[in-house]
Amino acid sequence: MTEVYRLSSCLPDATAIARAADVLRGGGLVAFPTETVYGLGANALDAAAVARIFAAKDRPANNPLIVHVARIDEARELAAEWPDNAARLAERFWPGPVTLVLAKRPIVPEIVTAGAVTVGLRIPAHPVARALLEAAGVPIAAPSANRSNEISPTTAEHVVKSLGGRIDIVLDAGPTSGGLESTVLDLTARPPRILRPGLIAPAEIEALIGPVERPSAVLDTSQQPRASPGQLPRHYAPRALMECCTDGGSERVAVLTRQGLRLGWLTSAYAGRDTFSADTKAVVTTIIMPTEPAAYATRLFAALHELDDANVDRIIVDLPPDEEPWLAIRDRLRRGSVQ
Ligand code: TXA
Ligand code: MG
Repeated sequence: MTEVYRLSSCLPDATAIARAADVLRGGGLVAFPTETVYGLGANALDAAAVARIFAAKDRPANNPLIVHVARIDEARELAAEWPDNAARLAERFWPGPVTLVLAKRPIVPEIVTAGAVTVGLRIPAHPVARALLEAAGVPIAAPSANRSNEISPTTAEHVVKSLGGRIDIVLDAGPTSGGLESTVLDLTARPPRILRPGLIAPAEIEALIGPVERPSAVLDTSQQPRASPGQLPRHYAPRALMECCTDGGSERVAVLTRQGLRLGWLTSAYAGRDTFSADTKAVVTTIIMPTEPAAYATRLFAALHELDDANVDRIIVDLPPDEEPWLAIRDRLRRGSVQ
């Protein structure tokens, strides 16, 4: 049985937080909102509890987890080194959606880092996440609260749909605001390397610590070992096959509907739709996406969940422009469409 507690996102109910904190300290699993997506938390210092995360998600053991902490000094207790650039980034972006990968101390169990000598650390900004960390008094290992390779959850309903019955508690504080995961930055590399683009743009990081290595614009679909195993080419994928169109998807939509497919279409070009016949419109679930990157990010995963729920055969996406503000969004869309 999974218990679901509804609570206010700005003033979280102390009783629900205390109950969730107890469950965490006792080795249980608690899903909670962050400012990016919902996370599935366990006591990061308890290897058996962390093993339950991997089991609940069917997550491969070689994919390390991010450890969430309440304060910078707690992050420093888990990291073997605290270089100057870590101090500057933490000061500027925490609490917030940047994960810093640093050399780990032995106190961090190997299962958390998938055997790696580094650990990913972040202080989340969401008041519920912060209240939970304070009440639990332990660092919380938390991947996104979805089964491995499914779409990340931005609502408690998404969490229950994917993990209901497999975890102890869901703290439901409504939809998350950011919508995409944190930027993962490897500070042990020279120069520092962005392992996963996210809500904080490379330029914002570079303004603070100088040049960083950016993720390649081309997806590496080879089977080579990766620095960040979560960066498998296919990831964040809806059930239906997804196709990204660089110059608008309306023609593709017209062709595939003629073949009898039920389509989902993520588009910003509302006007294109009026050229469709009534027959076409009837079999296409069109979701009009925002034209501004932050708003698009907030909406993206929920839109993909809706199309999964609508049982479409294929999802057509008008790929947003190849510009830096769209970097993380294009990354998720393209990973979702790898076959
Ligand atoms: O916004 C987020 O980051 C959310 C919320 C819940 O905090 N968490 C999240 O976790 O997205 P997850 O497990 O879905 O993605 C973590 C990513 C993976 O790509 C993983 O490989 C990478 O971070 N990662 C974690 N620790 C790492 C390490 N020590 N070295 C390299 N990559 C690491
Ligand atoms: Mg994930």
